[in-house]
Amino acid sequence: MLYYEPSVLYSILKNHRAKVAILTDSNTEEVCLPYLSEIIKPYMAENSVSFYSVQAGEQSKTLHEATKIFEKLQNWEFQKKDLVLVLGGGMLCDLGSFCASIYKRGLRQFLIPTSLLAMCDAAIGGKTGVNLAHVKNSVGSFYPAEGILVLSEFIKTLPRKEVMSGFGEVIKHGILQSQKDFLATIFAFDFYKKHSIIQEEVLINAANFKRKIVEQDPWEKNVRKILNYGHTIGHALESAWLMEGKEIPHGICVLYGILYENQIAVSQGILHMDQANFIKSFISNFIGEFSMKIPSKYVMESLVLQDKKNEQDGINFSLIQDFGKPMIDIYIDKTVVLKALENEIDF
Ligand SMILES: NC(=O)c1ccc[n+]([C@@H]2O[C@H](COP(=O)([O-])OP(=O)(O)OC[C@H]3O[C@@H](n4cnc5c(N)ncnc54)[C@H](O)[C@@H]3O)[C@@H](O)[C@H]2O)c1
Repeated sequence: MLYYEPSVLYSILKNHRAKVAILTDSNTEEVCLPYLSEIIKPYMAENSVSFYSVQAGEQSKTLHEATKIFEKLQNWEFQKKDLVLVLGGGMLCDLGSFCASIYKRGLRQFLIPTSLLAMCDAAIGGKTGVNLAHVKNSVGSFYPAEGILVLSEFIKTLPRKEVMSGFGEVIKHGILQSQKDFLATIFAFDFYKKHSIIQEEVLINAANFKRKIVEQDPWEKNVRKILNYGHTIGHALESAWLMEGKEIPHGICVLYGILYENQIAVSQGILHMDQANFIKSFISNFIGEFSMKIPSKYVMESLVLQDKKNEQDGINFSLIQDFGKPMIDIYIDKTVVLKALENEIDF
């Protein structure tokens, strides 16, 4: 269930008769927790709440950090009826809900995403997980939150780079919906650049799009796979750059992924070159400031082959034929993929 009204949280807590813990990362503890504490002040005045904070950043999305959270939950004597509130971006939503999903075989959990990316994507749909070595989300589970509270207030403190990353997924949702929705996301970004405000309707549209898709296919057997558009290559790039010590925001990697996957779709006669170029003209401009060398094809080869969506010979992609016309389970020969990756993007 998606909520947009802060008062919902107080109502939920008021009716909750067991323990509560709030997980934050080192940034959200500093800039988001004071606002949240204000909302639930009357509850905190009468009840004790436990707090735990992990170091901000993707490097915390590990089994090691998860173990530390399990130990905290054990010290607090948490039982199934107790509630974990996760206050953070996609990293913490993935890590916190992973812990909530397996501690005592599942605690109550409520997510309060604080980054644009988590509000429109990561917090919605129940995927939890941690990374193993440099491979993203290798260990995880499906565990939908009881509720997700989206408060655009938190975007005020979000660094510009992270707002751009969130727009990566918002733009992807736009392309998957229609050309009109795609352009609306691009205009919304221009509006943000001028006024430092994200138009609420764009945020709600992107979050609702994801909600509707995951409601149709919670276990990603079918239509939900369209959301992996841009992610087969996007994830591989994200991991490869991380191995080089460069933490490139997830949504930016997804936009790179979209450009390369569109090239592949064009090479296979799936997508018309004009549409690919139209998308590229906006996206390359958008990611221009993150212009990066693509890591060596050998690194890419091994990482792409490790992708969890690789179920047969060839690499499994979710591509598009046009705006609003996604295709899933397209297996592409790895030589075609490597050839596409050899082309640097011309910004
Ligand atoms: N489960 C899913 O379906 C799903 C989908 C997409 C992405 N993800 C995962 O989400 C993660 C990326 O999410 P992300 O981009 O939110 O990363 P993140 O959680 O690391 O947040 C990015 C940075 O912004 C900071 N931050 C968050 N909210 C803030 C705020 N309001 N003010 C100031 N700083 C704030 C964080 O501390 C961090 O430094 C990746 O691990 C990715 O794999 C999961």
